[in-house]
Amino acid sequence: MSTRVAAALLLLLATFAPTHSSDDLIDKICKTTPFYEFCEASLRPLSPENATSIAAAMATVVLRNMTDTLGFIQSQIRRSRDPAAERALAECAELYRPVVKFNIPQAIDAMRRGDLGFAVYVIGDAEKQADACQKGFSAAGDDDDGSTAALTARNKLLKDLCDLAIAVLKSLMKGG
Ligand SMILES: *[C@@H]1O[C@H](CO)[C@@H](O)[C@H](O)[C@H]1NC(C)=O
Ligand SMILES: *[C@@H]1O[C@H](CO)[C@@H](O)[C@H](O)[C@H]1NC(C)=O
Repeated sequence: MSTRVAAALLLLLATFAPTHSSDDLIDKICKTTPFYEFCEASLRPLSPENATSIAAAMATVVLRNMTDTLGFIQSQIRRSRDPAAERALAECAELYRPVVKFNIPQAIDAMRRGDLGFAVYVIGDAEKQADACQKGFSAAGDDDDGSTAALTARNKLLKDLCDLAIAVLKSLMKGG
């Protein structure tokens, strides 16, 4: 290989180094969690570039999912004709609303100031709300239109996301 080609390759490598190192950071953090594939799939689309933006991206994924699930619950409440199911759904909405409206946005603000510990606490609490929603909701009994299964799947995804987010945040707190 000629020196000029080698020099050009080096230049090319140097040019792309920032992209590679950010990819490596997501990869590195995800490898420290027990959920590698899920972690990659959740973080990669938001292309966070450093530790701070990885933390914020993780909280954003949880926030979006929970917001989406709250919207789903509200649409189920409007459709429901079973008072027991409707009560359980309304309870889920009450559990999720403050987390979506206040707690997670506050945690994201705290992260921007470098406080990850608060976010770990808030996301741990979000996971408890998902548990509480699921318990109340499954106790209310079955329906016939598949919405029980749909909400169960959403609560499960939320719990998994919270577990992932906590693993990522803890890894970041330890310095990756
Ligand atoms: C919820 O999280 C999953 C897994 O990260 C992601 O694929 C999906 O797009 C998220 N949903 C919303 C509404 O953000
Ligand atoms: C971290 O990355 C985000 C974009 O993902 C950027 O806005 C921010 O300035 C970066 N922070 C540092 C300290 O480089």
